[in-house]
Amino acid sequence: MIEVRIRKVTPTDLNRVAEIEAICFPAAEAASQEAFQQRIAAFPEYFLVAEINDTLVGFINGCVTNSSVIYDELFANTQHHVPNGVNASVFGLDVIPEYRNQGIAAQLMKHFIQEAKIAGKKSIILTCKAKLIHYYASFGYVNDGVSKSTHGGAEWFDMTLVL
Ligand SMILES: CC(C)(COP(=O)(O)OP(=O)(O)OC[C@H]1O[C@@H](n2cnc3c(N)ncnc32)[C@H](O)[C@@H]1OP(=O)(O)O)[C@@H](O)C(=O)NCCC(=O)NCCS
Repeated sequence: MIEVRIRKVTPTDLNRVAEIEAICFPAAEAASQEAFQQRIAAFPEYFLVAEINDTLVGFINGCVTNSSVIYDELFANTQHHVPNGVNASVFGLDVIPEYRNQGIAAQLMKHFIQEAKIAGKKSIILTCKAKLIHYYASFGYVNDGVSKSTHGGAEWFDMTLVL
C-alpha cells in the first residue's frame, strides 16, 4: 500500500495546488492561482494536502462561515472567511487521476473532519454534483437538495455533516 502523508498547506505548495486544480476541474469551475494564494494566506488550517514521496497528489480546502450553506461569493472572496464561525466548508477535494480510487480523498476528508471537530465546529458544509452525493454520504454528509450555487454554470447539491 502506498504511503500518503496528509499535512497542512504551505505557501510553497501554491504552484502545484493550482496545477492539480486545473487537472481536476473544468476551466469554468477551477479556482485560479490567485484565489489559492489568498486561501492559503487566509485559512491554512482548513487547507490540507496529500503527499506521496514528496509530491503533492491532492488536497482539500474550505473556509469557515456562519452560513448553513455555501454561496458563490464564499469561493471568490476570502473576506467571507469568519475564523470563529460555526461551520467549516469544503470548497474542493482534488486527487490527480493517476492516484484515484485508493482512498486518498477519503484520507483528506477524514483529516479535515478531525480538524473541524477539534476546532469545535458545529458542522461541515459543501456543494457537490449529483454523481458524488453517494460518496459524501459515505462520510455521513446529508443531502439538503439543490443548491442556489450556479458556480461554473453547473447544478450543485448542498450537503451537511453535523459534527
Ligand atoms: C472526487 C475525487 C476527489 C475522489 O478522489 P479519490 O482519491 O479517488 O477518492 P477515494 O479513493 O476516497 O474514493 C473514490 C472511490 O474509490 C473507492 N476506493 C477507496 N479506496 C479504495 C481502494 N483501496 N481500492 C479500490 N477502491 C477504493 C471509494 O469507495 C470510492 O468509490 P465510489 O466512487 O464507488 O464511492 C477525485 O475523483 C477528483 O479529484 N475528481 C475531480 C474533482 C472533483 O470532482 N472533486 C469533488 C468535487 S469538489
